[in-house]
Formats: sequence, C-alpha cells, structure tokens
Amino acid sequence: MSDDFAHNDNWASNWAPVYEKFNSIRGRVAEAEETATFLERYCGGGSALELGIGDGRVAVPLSERGVRVEGIDNSDSMLTLLRERSDLINAWKGDMAKFRTEQRYNLVYCAYNTLMVLVTREAQINCLRSAADALHDEGYLVLELLVPAIGGFVGGQKTTTTLVDHENTFVTADIHDPLNQNLVSSLLWFSGTSVRRLPYRVRYVYHQELDTMAECVGLKLSERWGDWTGGEFTEASKRHISVYRRAGL
Ligand SMILES: C[S@@+](CC[C@H](N)C(=O)[O-])C[C@H]1O[C@@H](n2cnc3c(N)ncnc32)[C@H](O)[C@@H]1O
Repeated sequence: MSDDFAHNDNWASNWAPVYEKFNSIRGRVAEAEETATFLERYCGGGSALELGIGDGRVAVPLSERGVRVEGIDNSDSMLTLLRERSDLINAWKGDMAKFRTEQRYNLVYCAYNTLMVLVTREAQINCLRSAADALHDEGYLVLELLVPAIGGFVGGQKTTTTLVDHENTFVTADIHDPLNQNLVSSLLWFSGTSVRRLPYRVRYVYHQELDTMAECVGLKLSERWGDWTGGEFTEASKRHISVYRRAGL
C-alpha cells in the first residue's frame, strides 16, 4: 500500500477544505438531522462517543438535542473544522483503531462508512473492541456502512460517474485489491474549469462479516435498518445501520 493512501492526514488535508460542500451536494448535511434523531433514542439521556467525528456533521445536531457528545478523530484539519462549528463537544486527536478511555458511554457510534477507513481486518476488530470497552453495560454501538458494490470491475478497475449537474461532475476511479478487501480510489471532482483529485482507501466489509467481528469482541447484533429513518434492510439496500449490544443482554 502506498503511504499516500495509508496516511489519514493526507486524506483529511485533501478532503477537509471541501468536506461540507461535498456532503451538502450528496445530501449528507440535510440527512444529519435524521441521523441525530435516530441516535438520540440510544443515548438514554446520557452520553455518546463518535469515532471519526470529522467536522461534527452528526455530532453537532446530536449535541444540540441535549446529548453529551464526545469524539475522536486523527486529523487536525477535521478537528479544527469541528471546533469552528461548536464548543459543546469534547473531541480529541486519536486513532479509533486503538483508543482507550476511562469514560463509559450510553452510545458509541461510527457513521458514514468510517469503519472502512481502517484498511485491515485487525484494525477494524481492534476498533470494535475499543468501542465495546467504552460502552456502559447496557450501551449500544451503532455503525453505518455501505453494502459493498464490487460488481463491474474489468481487469481489477472500475470508473463510475456518480453525479452530473450544471456545476459539478463526480467521477470515481477504483482499483480493487481483493486479497485485502481493499478499494484504492480517487474521486475526481470537476467543477467549472478545475478538477480536484480526492484519494482514499477503504477495506469493505459485508454485514455478516461485521456481525462476526462484533461477536469476537463480545457484542451481538440487536437491530439492522436500511437507513436512518428506520427503513427495512433488504437485498436492494445500498447501506445498513447496524445496532449492537453486549452479548447476553
Ligand atoms: C468519512 S469521514 C466521516 C466524518 C463524520 N463522522 C461524518 O459522518 O461526517 C471519516 C472521518 O474519520 C477520520 N478518521 C480516519 N481514520 C481515522 C482513525 N484511524 N482514527 C480516527 N479518525 C479517523 C477522518 O479524519 C474523518 O474525519
């Protein structure tokens, strides 16, 4: 793996300046209220910890509902964006693949496919273990992940146009690394006469593998939804919201 993709600072320094605009175009800013409404139900009036909190897209509306929200991110650029938006949230710089905290939370959550930015199975399991350790005995872990779409690759590569409007064109170029379940990708964002290249790398994971990884750290699936409004998870779903609790509850 090239360092270019392995280093999150690189990821974030590319994405941070355009993160809110990108999410706004993709409908993710508008969706954050729905996400916060969903998550609030699992907080029991208590506290929540977001893994990969970013600019607070979800954490800010959740904190505005009276939940005490904390967060971890390993990017200074993203934490700066968060601090510019809110002083309600205690967020610190750290690696969600191996964090330890004395605090215990009603809810730990990781939205917007963020678990996938950990590009090895070990890192993903370690993250789930840290998350499980950070939960109150009766707490919830909520994960939002897309359903892997690895059809359509020719010779291990695929190019997909995901948006064309009067101002912007988004083209994603993916290289598939099947041995590691990795996608090495770049979003090419054409706007006016300029183009911005936004590289990233992810390890995709199917929902049943996710359940097995969660079981490895003492958690058990309690609910699975197809979106943040509580839509059903079906074979047509493009993502899932999975809710885990301690096994035995
Ligand atoms: C897709 S963004 C999601 C941000 C936010 N959760 C949201 O829903 O808008 C992924 C975030 O995870 C952070 N991140 C990536 N790798 C990380 C790691 N190993 N530890 C902590 N944060 C990480 C990035 O800096 C970025 O802010």
